Amino acid sequence: MTTEARSPAAPRRARSVIALDTVSKHYATGEIAVRALHGVSLRIERGDLVAIMGSSGSGKSTLMNILGCLDAPTHGRYRLDGIDVGLLTDDELADIRNRKIGFVFQSYNLVPRTAALANVELPLQYARLPRDERRRRAVEALKMVGLGHRLDHLPTALSGGQQQRVAIARALVTNPAIILADEPTGNLDSRSTRQVLRLFAQLNLSGRTVVLITHEDEVAQIAKRVVRLADGEIVEDQRASHVNGFNPALRDLLELRKRPARGDLTGGGVA
Ligand SMILES: Nc1ncnc2c1ncn2[C@@H]1O[C@H](COP(=O)(O)OP(=O)(O)OP(=O)(O)O)[C@@H](O)[C@H]1O
Ligand SMILES: [Mg+2]
Repeated sequence: MTTEARSPAAPRRARSVIALDTVSKHYATGEIAVRALHGVSLRIERGDLVAIMGSSGSGKSTLMNILGCLDAPTHGRYRLDGIDVGLLTDDELADIRNRKIGFVFQSYNLVPRTAALANVELPLQYARLPRDERRRRAVEALKMVGLGHRLDHLPTALSGGQQQRVAIARALVTNPAIILADEPTGNLDSRSTRQVLRLFAQLNLSGRTVVLITHEDEVAQIAKRVVRLADGEIVEDQRASHVNGFNPALRDLLELRKRPARGDLTGGGVA
């Protein structure tokens, strides 16, 4: 689905939560201009689970940074939930980022020498919530990712998979509509990968739009749609299941939750 009906009577709450129109990102490094993205048009529907694939340097992170309002396109328009983000001030952008988007990165990006709980509370500080409420929601988010017993652990005292689950708790604690993840399982072993994927699947099941950047087929298999980039352009766009449906790998993953493996830390559900 790459087109969207345009009529004056279109509902204010756009069906496409993400709408890119001929977006380009060019970098001028010395004499050479790099076309990191070129003429990318993409609609992502609310509730979808999308994998973005492509070889190194194909523009995946550039795309993610634009989707997450961390970077602005050189050309083209990006509407997030119907809002043209190109028209917003820096403060408005920061606000929309905080309210609508949760980020997860390959390298976790936790604040060092800061306990898991404080890391997860951080986005709520920006949202100016009272201290008790911040704490309550952060504890709840850490329990959801199966880390209720690691609240006071520093990042250095957590495994890679646990650090990534703290990062996921931090991404979901503000209850964002969209979760953007750039190679979230790139540093994880297969067991941690499965746990992390299950969390994303549960987040998607509970209605969030999830966009995962990945090199790994195992990750792409759970996606309902796979978009492939090459040299900054979309070269393939395949739908594996309906936005509200399940493909076989996603179904398997969610059923694993009902029959947790022995020693599986992720006992609780996310929804
Ligand atoms: N700040 C920058 N200045 C100049 N060129 C950049 C900058 N950021 C990215 N690029 C270039 O843009 C292109 C796309 O980079 P990007 O990081 O989006 O790739 P990627 O698909 O995420 O790759 P990887 O899989 O290795 O993470 C690359 O050729 C890269 O060298
Ligand atoms: Mg990248």
